[in-house]
Amino acid sequence: MSKIRAAITAIESHLPDYVLTNDILEQMVDTSEEWITTRTGIKTRHILRGEGKGTSDMGAEAVKGLLEKRGIKPEEVDLFLCSTVTPDMKFPATANIISDKTGIKNAFSYDINAACSGFLYTLVTAAMFIESGKYRKVVVVGADKMSSIIDYTDRQTCVLFGDGASAVLLEPTTEDVGVMDHIFQSDGSGMIHLHMKAGGSVKPPSHETVDAREHYVYQEGKAVFKFAVANMADVSVDIMKRNNLSSDDISFLVPHQANMRIIEAVGKRMCLDKSQIMINIQRYGNTTNATIPLCLWDYENQLKKGDNLILSAFGGGFTWGAIWLKWAYDPPA
Ligand code: UT7
Repeated sequence: MSKIRAAITAIESHLPDYVLTNDILEQMVDTSEEWITTRTGIKTRHILRGEGKGTSDMGAEAVKGLLEKRGIKPEEVDLFLCSTVTPDMKFPATANIISDKTGIKNAFSYDINAACSGFLYTLVTAAMFIESGKYRKVVVVGADKMSSIIDYTDRQTCVLFGDGASAVLLEPTTEDVGVMDHIFQSDGSGMIHLHMKAGGSVKPPSHETVDAREHYVYQEGKAVFKFAVANMADVSVDIMKRNNLSSDDISFLVPHQANMRIIEAVGKRMCLDKSQIMINIQRYGNTTNATIPLCLWDYENQLKKGDNLILSAFGGGFTWGAIWLKWAYDPPA
C-alpha cells in the first residue's frame, strides 16, 4: 500500500485593517524610515485594534475563509491546532475558542507554542495525525496579536512586529506531494536572549512587574540575529542535502519573516536566486506564527502541483527547523 502523506489543500489568511507605517512609528519613538527599511526591510504592519479583540478573532476569520474556500463544513474537521505565543488567555487554549467561534464541533483542539518556529512544528504535528490514517481533515492556524505584548516605547522591538493569522487545511494523499521531510531543533539556553520576563509561573503578574514593563517582548537583537542566520541556513541546507535537492530543484524558500537581511543570508547559503524566495516582510513585519503561511497565501497563485518548497524558521526558545513540502495543487481558477 502506498504511504499516506499530509497535503496542504487550501490556505486562507486574515489581516486586521489598521496599518501601522514607518512614518507613524517615527512620531512614536526615536527612529527613522531609513533605519527601519535598511536594517529590517519592513515598511508597514497590520495591527488589531478594538476593545476585547484577540488572537482568536483573527484566527476565526482565517479559518472561516479557509473552510468556505475548500467548500467543507466545520463539522467535517476532526483535529484543529493553533500555534501562537499570544493566546487570548493563559487558558483555555485559543484553539478551543476558535473552534467555538467557527462551529468546529467534531474535533479536538489545542495550542502549540514554539515561538516563531511554531507554525512549522504544528504543521508537522498535524501531518503525523494525517499519516496515522485516523484523521482526514486537520486545520492548522498560525495566529498572533503581537501588538498585545510589544512595548510601543521601545524602538528596538516596536518597529519589528505585526498582527495576523493564516490557516491551512491538511488532507491525506497517496500522491508524491505534501509534507516530505523535516529537521527540527531547539536549545533552551537561548532563552536569555529572547523572552517575556513576567506573567508566567516564575514571576506572576504584579503591580511591580507592570511598573517595570516586564510583560513585553525582551529581545537582544544582535545575538538573536547571529543565531538565526547560522541555524536557519544550516538546517535549510541540511534538508536539501539529505533529500538530494539542488538549488535548481527548489521552487521557493519560504522563510520566517523576521528580518530581510536574515532572509537574504539564508537564501544565499542555499545558492538561491532572489526570485526563488518568498518575501512579504515589507507589508506585514514579523507576525511570529503567521509569517510562513502568510507567504504561502500571498504566493498561492504562483505555486504549481509538485513544486518543491523549503519552509524555514528560527525563533524564541531557541527553536528552529526546516520542512521540505511538495505543493499539492495548481493555482485556483
Ligand atoms: O522572530 C524571532 C527572532 N528574531 C529575529 O530574528 C530578530 C533578529 N534581530 C534583528 O533582526 C536585528 O538585530 C534588529 C533589527 C532587531 C536590530 O538590527 P541590528 O542591525 O542588529 O541593530 P543593533 O541592535 O545592533 O542596533 C544598532 C543601532 C544601536 O545604536 P548604537 O548603540 O549603535 O548607537 C541601536 O540603539 O541601532 C539602534 N537602534 C535603532 N535606531 C533607530 C535600534 N533600534 C532602532 C530603531 N531606530 N528602531
